[in-house]
Amino acid sequence: MTVNAALDGADEPQDGVAQPRDAERIVRIIRESFAKIEPQAEAVAQHFYAVLFTIAPETRNLFPANMQVQRSRLLRALVHIVQMVDRPQELKPFLHQLGRDHRKFDVVNRHYESVGTALLAAIKHYSGDAWTEEVEWSWAEAYAIIAGAMQQGSDADDGPAWWHARVVEHIKLDWDTAVIRVQTSEPVPYFPGQYLSIESPQRPRLWRYLSPANAPREDNTIDFHVRAVDGGWVSRALVSHSNAEDVWRLGSPLGNLWANRAADRDLLLVAGGTGVAPLRAVLDELARRGSRPSVQLFFGGRTDEDLYNLDELRSFASHNPWLTVTPVTEDGSAAGGEKGLLADVVTAHGAWRDHDVLVSGSPGMIRSTVSRMLVAGTTFDQISYDSFSTD
Ligand SMILES: Cc1cc2nc3c(=O)[nH]c(=O)nc-3n(C[C@H](O)[C@H](O)[C@H](O)COP(=O)(O)OP(=O)(O)OC[C@H]3O[C@@H](n4cnc5c(N)ncnc54)[C@H](O)[C@@H]3O)c2cc1C
Ligand code: HEM
Repeated sequence: MTVNAALDGADEPQDGVAQPRDAERIVRIIRESFAKIEPQAEAVAQHFYAVLFTIAPETRNLFPANMQVQRSRLLRALVHIVQMVDRPQELKPFLHQLGRDHRKFDVVNRHYESVGTALLAAIKHYSGDAWTEEVEWSWAEAYAIIAGAMQQGSDADDGPAWWHARVVEHIKLDWDTAVIRVQTSEPVPYFPGQYLSIESPQRPRLWRYLSPANAPREDNTIDFHVRAVDGGWVSRALVSHSNAEDVWRLGSPLGNLWANRAADRDLLLVAGGTGVAPLRAVLDELARRGSRPSVQLFFGGRTDEDLYNLDELRSFASHNPWLTVTPVTEDGSAAGGEKGLLADVVTAHGAWRDHDVLVSGSPGMIRSTVSRMLVAGTTFDQISYDSFSTD
């Protein structure tokens, strides 16, 4: 079934995103279908890319030269996102942003049809007898809805697909962390709390998300806090080998961490590691505004060495009395801080009923913090985090 044929089976778009007629059933069928072939995920991915590069050879140049490293990235993301098609209203803003951001890869609308065909071909090939008409229809329906929303996002944006950014400063804070300042010639229209994907000359075509750590500035400089992860292709190169005058590309802004929040509500910010960067941008924006709510920031790591910009945050708080910074370490090594896991320490202070809560960090840290806060009585609509990031 083609993408367009699948769309015929969906209800009319509402608010820009088609609603599947039987979304829960579709998601259940897709999950069961993928669970059967997941042990062969690597082979499925190879088949997917082989079909894609045969039916649309021009797409090969969109992907990294070394596909051994990158092979499963798009397919993994696709399968993850397609399984969320029963949450269209939540998914819609993310898909619009993702589609807009995909312009940085030189993706054009006809590529969506090819990717859909390759996806179904790869899953069918490894499903054997489990590939029924209903399974095929479910995958096609879900893919068409996701792809349609991404194309809408892409079509609706006539701004640049990316911005060139020159590295103007590279400060290595310790062996695995650096603050890298870049400058664009045009403003990048991001909102504090959002993230961007970046490509550096050290790692062509390997795009990674980084979060600006400052609100937009008049001189168009943006600070990124980068931590090198073990075996990381891009983060390690950025921390160790970035040079002033390197030219990066920045993709379109993504994320809704601080969007649609009342300006006057008190804020609880919970950050793990470089997850503090987008929250630092929010603080920057609040400092510029005339009236600010009261803000409590809990900044956590395993030891005080993980709290790489604690001194800077404390200095910022000393000039901005509406902000309280509490370091949290598992070994209690941060002077004046609390000992324990972020989730435990934050919930020990209650349910934070009068606060909006922004959580930022690794997927594991976000999961544990949000689930503990819900148990402690914080309501879901108080809490914001970037739930759809698929890195
Ligand atoms: C919304 C969002 C915002 C982000 N903002 C920032 C930021 O401001 N600063 C920053 O430094 N990073 C940030 N990241 C993480 C960043 O995008 C990369 O994932 C990270 O730098 C690793 O990329 P890599 O190429 O070095 O690792 P890869 O080569 O992609 O992966 C190498 C190994 O590291 C593991 N790995 C991947 N990511 C992580 C991680 N975050 N922690 C531990 N292990 C990991 C992989 O599973 C793999 O085993 C953000 C990620 C997301 C989703
Ligand atoms: C429903 C459709 C799609 C979804 C949900 C999707 C999602 C994603 C996500 C989440 C990523 C990783 C994040 C990133 O690097 O930006 C990614 C990477 C990528 N996507 Fe897509 N994508 C879709 C369609 C397409 C199409 C049609 C193309 C064109 C061929 C494409 C090309 C790429 C490329 C080149 C990458 C980076 C390379 C890689 O890491 O695999 N995507 N996609």
